[in-house]
Amino acid sequence: MKFDTPATTNPIDQLKIIGHPTDRIDGPLKTTGSAPYAYERHDVVANQAYGVILGSAIAKGRIAAMDLAAAKAAPGVLAIVTAANAGPIAKAKSHTAKMLAGPDIQHYDQAIAIVVAETFEQARDGAKLIRVDYERAKGRFDLDAEMKAAPPKGDEESGSKPIERIGDFDGAFHAAPVKLDATYSTPAHSHAMMEPHATIAAWEGDTLTLWTSNQMIAWAVRDVSQTLMIPKEKIRIVSPYIGGGFGSKLWIRSDAIMAALAAKAAGRPVKVALARPQIANNTTHRPATIQRIRLGAAKDGKLTAIGHESWSGNLPQGGPETATAQTKLLYAGANRLTATRLAVLDLPEGNAMRAPGEASGLMALEIAMDEMAEKLGMDPIAFRIANDTQEDPNKPGRTFSYRNLIGCLQTGAEKFGWDKRQAKPASVRDGRWLVGMGVAAAFRNNMLTKSAARVRLSAKGIVTVETDMTDIGTGTYTIIAQTAAETMGIPLDHVVVSLGDSRFPVSAGSGGQWGANNSTAGVYAACMKLRETVAVKLGFNSADAVFSDGKVGTGNRHVSLASAAKDGEIVAEDAIEYGSLDKTYQQSTFGGHFVEVGVDAYTGQIRIRRMLAVCSAGRILNPKSARSQVIGAMTMGAGAALMEELAVDTRFGFFVNHDLAGYEVPVHGDIPHQEVIFLDETDPISSPMKAKGVGELGICGVAAAVANAIYNATGVRVRDYPITLDKHL
Ligand code: MOS
Repeated sequence: MKFDTPATTNPIDQLKIIGHPTDRIDGPLKTTGSAPYAYERHDVVANQAYGVILGSAIAKGRIAAMDLAAAKAAPGVLAIVTAANAGPIAKAKSHTAKMLAGPDIQHYDQAIAIVVAETFEQARDGAKLIRVDYERAKGRFDLDAEMKAAPPKGDEESGSKPIERIGDFDGAFHAAPVKLDATYSTPAHSHAMMEPHATIAAWEGDTLTLWTSNQMIAWAVRDVSQTLMIPKEKIRIVSPYIGGGFGSKLWIRSDAIMAALAAKAAGRPVKVALARPQIANNTTHRPATIQRIRLGAAKDGKLTAIGHESWSGNLPQGGPETATAQTKLLYAGANRLTATRLAVLDLPEGNAMRAPGEASGLMALEIAMDEMAEKLGMDPIAFRIANDTQEDPNKPGRTFSYRNLIGCLQTGAEKFGWDKRQAKPASVRDGRWLVGMGVAAAFRNNMLTKSAARVRLSAKGIVTVETDMTDIGTGTYTIIAQTAAETMGIPLDHVVVSLGDSRFPVSAGSGGQWGANNSTAGVYAACMKLRETVAVKLGFNSADAVFSDGKVGTGNRHVSLASAAKDGEIVAEDAIEYGSLDKTYQQSTFGGHFVEVGVDAYTGQIRIRRMLAVCSAGRILNPKSARSQVIGAMTMGAGAALMEELAVDTRFGFFVNHDLAGYEVPVHGDIPHQEVIFLDETDPISSPMKAKGVGELGICGVAAAVANAIYNATGVRVRDYPITLDKHL
């Protein structure tokens, strides 16, 4: 189904099932611990051996010698794979560093060997017995030190240019009567999802099956094919249940590649999980940034100059953190400068983590907006509203598909009681607590991607949906079932959803908050095709046949949907494919974050007291699962504001706090009452579902709202995250 004109009224608009807060259909499996995760697939293949990955103990240099003798002789050890005996392997295009290193080492804890044994303990002991002699080389590990030498670098994937200028930024900034020039920094973050990376690999002849934990099945097939240099047709990826990803599982990691190599060497299936302490350094992280923001405004509060430059670092061939993405689109202003610069750092690979670009960028930009409002003597909400734009600032005449940032800010202000905020910092006291309120705008782009599905109608009237789409804890199973039930006019319990298998049609996958809108639109397309076949089969004109209550009909003739399949299952497959609507219109999602904090006047301890997010993100397919996405993202944003930081050892080049004891994330006790309001809207330009992404919007801006609330409480402006109490005392 080609989607190239705005959606008109369609079966989804009935809202009999879509738009309802349906419980997660996989909820009981998840909460009873019976949804099988990759490492737990004991049933899928017999005779599984265990693999343990050994990572490099240096960050840069080479392996001079490796002595495997003691490991080979250890009890239970079946095989050891290193770069020296693995046979030819390549680097997939989307990997920055190799999944198996040697003799050259690109980063700390990069996989250099896997030991296969009968038991996990034997494999782990074997890995400890490998003796490695390294030749250490000098590496670059400190972004502060390297930023001066960092050249401009754009992002190939999103097409963002290294430096973009509109109008005369320098002149306008110079001339502006009110201006701000401030630098902010954000540290590296770890995804810290619950389920570690894990894979079971099994070969059958030259065919490889990987039961793994992965967000993007088709990318996984492609990357395994490129790495192991085997045809895509010989690879099957299975990933039906995933215990969180946040971007860490967008691309297949060393667990999958090393399991495949190990299974080949051992001649039997091998299972591998990355131990928690391996994840921070062996896999990817959200890169640290340094961001300089310059804002110039007229006395009436209209921005005349907007400048945002961001520095980040990555391994050679890696990309920048695109922290300027939102600054190109969020506020009006005739003169603009955005730039991303990239230093070479020999730290582990920096890559996507929940709302890559905007999450980091808004941490800086939305503090800057708060500072600027204060300079202008304006309320921070009024200042943002005064600088709203309905037009893409980069392309005059091009509008947003739908934009209601103002509605988010106004609704939030009213519901949160913003009128009680004191503009003068440190003027509200509640016992020993200094109390403050902060606001920030949220912004995240909405991406349109082709997505396919297959639907089967059985003689019992059951519709089975098959697509390689994944559910990373987001509620995909449920919204896909809701989509099929709504489109086919059947109850929810007549739909079976099968996900996460490369044997199914290729979907959008779970990433960049594009999963919900695109994958359900693909299911809608397949169901519309099924409706056509069914209508013809039952002798109806497909254009006016009504599908409702398990029946198909027109006028006074209505027959059961199931009867269409009485001579055999009916199968339909289709994809949603987008024309140029996302070029004609800018597709984005918007929100407002409101936070109240208390800061202990004596100890400096910061406690978040209340949080509210108001989201403008098109039709909300399921308000319960969408709310869960947003409160999870708000929690992650609270972590970014107050505690999360991968600490770099700048001498030896690794993340020191590489487990959940040292890498602090918020727990229930850190998070107060959270409220989410979805503005009632549809976006007919985004897809037939009229929905957009929301899972990443929820994190965008939160940390700045916390920072602004702390400033309002204390009068101390901290521009370096996380805002730990030592920085504001
Ligand atoms: Mo997201 S960082 O694209 O999983």
